[in-house]
Amino acid sequence: MIELAHVTRAYRLGPNEVRALDDVTETIDRGEHVAIMGPSGSGKTTLLNVLGCLDAPTSGSYRLNGREVAELDEAERSHVRRKEIGFVFQTYHLVPRLDARANVELPLLLDGLAPDDRAARATEALEAVGLADRVTHRPSELSGGERQRVAIARALIMDPGLLLADEPTGNLDSAAGGQILQLMDDLHAEGKTIVTVTHDPTVARHADRVLVLIDGRIAHRLHPDDVAGLADLFEVRRAGR
Ligand SMILES: Nc1ncnc2c1ncn2[C@@H]1O[C@H](COP(=O)(O)OP(=O)(O)OP(=O)(O)O)[C@@H](O)[C@H]1O
Ligand SMILES: [Mg+2]
Repeated sequence: MIELAHVTRAYRLGPNEVRALDDVTETIDRGEHVAIMGPSGSGKTTLLNVLGCLDAPTSGSYRLNGREVAELDEAERSHVRRKEIGFVFQTYHLVPRLDARANVELPLLLDGLAPDDRAARATEALEAVGLADRVTHRPSELSGGERQRVAIARALIMDPGLLLADEPTGNLDSAAGGQILQLMDDLHAEGKTIVTVTHDPTVARHADRVLVLIDGRIAHRLHPDDVAGLADLFEVRRAGR
């Protein structure tokens, strides 16, 4: 599903070059749930943006479903983003003046569906995340966990094969976070491919495997049972600098 070969994403800042990603080679199979961990600034969001075709490598190859993303034109790339990839962010990214249903409908607007059909599909998607009784609530009238479930319903409305999540439980307490993790487990069981960026070992334990980024490189490939000590490892690295 995802094939990265020697992917580098460099930023030029005056005379200096920052390599947010540095020679990343990795394959993620269809149906896998992979967690990305690593210290702040290690390139996690950059990697997710590349995977989501929101950002392009400065060198190296990214193939998604067998196609070289760099060879797609802008129309094809935006089609891939809309149809094949769902995004979930730490801060939800909902439109404040729209109710839950209208937020979930947004990706359907370009599809030429009749308004009633759009509303019906969005309602169904909200039911699937346990929000049948919240469809006409605006984001400000929802809890954090409910907002994130609206965002997940929106990410899934086009039925993408790939779900990308950047700290999806980062703003939630453990009960609300637990509901999001349950939802992600269900999606994983349905066969979605999921890539989750997280600082939280509890979240990482829901993945099949864990990639640890340090300075833009995959420094460790871990089993989810082995991530508990990572926070301490990063602490030691920081102290040693
Ligand atoms: N637009 C940019 N211009 C220059 N450097 C950038 C830019 N975006 C990111 N970087 C740098 O690339 C590196 C990786 O950033 P990234 O946002 O991917 O980190 P992260 O692992 O997601 O961190 P965090 O855990 O804090 O979210 C950082 O050193 C950052 O300063
Ligand atoms: Mg980040």
